[in-house]
Amino acid sequence: MAGTSTQALPDGSTAAAWVDRWRDLMAGWLPEQEQVWAQVGDLVAEATAGTPVRLVDLGCGPATMACVLADRFPAAEVWGVDADPAALQVAALAAPGRVRTIEHDLRGTGWSRPLPGPADAVVSCCALHMVGAAGYRSVAGEAARALRPGGLFVDVDLHGDAEPARSAMPVADTVGRYAADLARALGRPSPADRSGQADPPPVPPGDRAGTLLAAGFSHVSVRAPGPRCSLVVARR
Ligand SMILES: C[S@@+](CC[C@H](N)C(=O)[O-])C[C@H]1O[C@@H](n2cnc3c(N)ncnc32)[C@H](O)[C@@H]1O
Repeated sequence: MAGTSTQALPDGSTAAAWVDRWRDLMAGWLPEQEQVWAQVGDLVAEATAGTPVRLVDLGCGPATMACVLADRFPAAEVWGVDADPAALQVAALAAPGRVRTIEHDLRGTGWSRPLPGPADAVVSCCALHMVGAAGYRSVAGEAARALRPGGLFVDVDLHGDAEPARSAMPVADTVGRYAADLARALGRPSPADRSGQADPPPVPPGDRAGTLLAAGFSHVSVRAPGPRCSLVVARR
């Protein structure tokens, strides 16, 4: 990743290594993630004549897609929102000054308040299946408030039944193990054990489109850039 620094965590490991491990882990679910991020970048370029001023990545994790967008649009202000402080700490160490972070639960309102002005695009990758139907309504409403008129909303997400891709290398790592190892490396308390806790049912792409229309978006479309994911695109 261009421009990624290798700042160390308290245990001496590098932030870049944690970003790489996360990218490899996510590739188990979405091997085509880098192509999808490029497609999101193309949509942003198309909607902004190639000169976005402000972009927001929802559920950014350690900011893998946000960094790709920051590389592609170096003049843009790129923000990442996530509820996980450890992931945001890695993002801040791996890409200092390139992605600004907001720690916030997307199911609640208010994540756009720290933005200094309207966003040109609010994007998300593999995150909004975790917020449930009420959370998605909240995300759509807050995104509508955050975006400038004509601004772009792009939600790339795994299909509800997505499993680690058979074609990918075996997923030897798990999100839970990553979170526990990262907490140790950062000297943070261990994350709560979520095994046995089910996420709310993911909202199907068609229902996401309906929710965006109800929140005032237009030109809503659903695409399938790959066999495991869908892409919901809308204009404010
Ligand atoms: C599967 S990861 C995807 C991360 C990143 N977008 C990527 O493509 O690698 C889902 C992310 O969504 C975040 N997330 C899940 N539920 C959330 C919520 N309610 N509020 C904020 N972030 C949330 C998680 O902390 C995690 O970083």
